[in-house]
Amino acid sequence: MSEAGTHEVEEAGTHEVEYVAPLPEGADKNERYLELRRYVDALTSDEDDWLANLANVAAAVYDHVPGVNWAGFYLMKGGELVLGPFQGRPACVRIRVGRGVCGTAASERRTQVVPDVHAFPGHIACDDRSRSEIVVPIVVRGDVVAVLDIDSPHLRNFDIEDRRALETIVADIVPRVDWVAATRT
Ligand code: SME
Repeated sequence: MSEAGTHEVEEAGTHEVEYVAPLPEGADKNERYLELRRYVDALTSDEDDWLANLANVAAAVYDHVPGVNWAGFYLMKGGELVLGPFQGRPACVRIRVGRGVCGTAASERRTQVVPDVHAFPGHIACDDRSRSEIVVPIVVRGDVVAVLDIDSPHLRNFDIEDRRALETIVADIVPRVDWVAATRT
C-alpha cells in the first residue's frame, strides 16, 4: 500500500521513507487517517526491527493525529504493562493490568475512549495536561501483547471514528512486529 503521498527511497543497507506531513487543519478526518495508514505502512514495510517499527508508528501517530500531547505503546512484560516507544513527556513506567485506562483496555481487551479522564475512575495522570484519552489493546492469538495509548489536552478529542481508524492501524502493524521479542522481560 505504499503509493500516493509516500515515497520510499531505497539505498543499499538503508530503509528510508520520505517524511509525510500531516494534512492541513480542517482536513477530513477519514482522509487524515488514510494518509496516516499509508505512512505507517511505508514506514514499517521491509523492516523487521520491532523497536524501530513501534518507535516510528508512535512518532507518526503523534505527528498526524490532531490535538495530541502523548502517543505511544505499553508492552505486556511479565504480566504488567511496561512503557515502550512513545512521543511526549516522560511517562509512568509500569501499569498493572486492570489499572488506569491502559490497564482497563488490557483487562477488558476493548478499546477505551475516555472523553474526560477526570471522570474515569483510577485514571493514571502521567501528564497533567491530558484531558481525554484513547487506548487500543493489541491482541495477538488471544493474548494482549501491548496497548497503543494516545492522550489529548482537549476534552472529547477522540470519538468512534478515531477508534475505528486506530484499530485498523493497529491491525495493520500486528504482523510488522516481533511480539515475542517486544514483550521479553
Ligand atoms: N493515563 C494512562 C497512563 C499512561 S499515560 O497517559 C502516558 C492510564 O490511565 O492508563
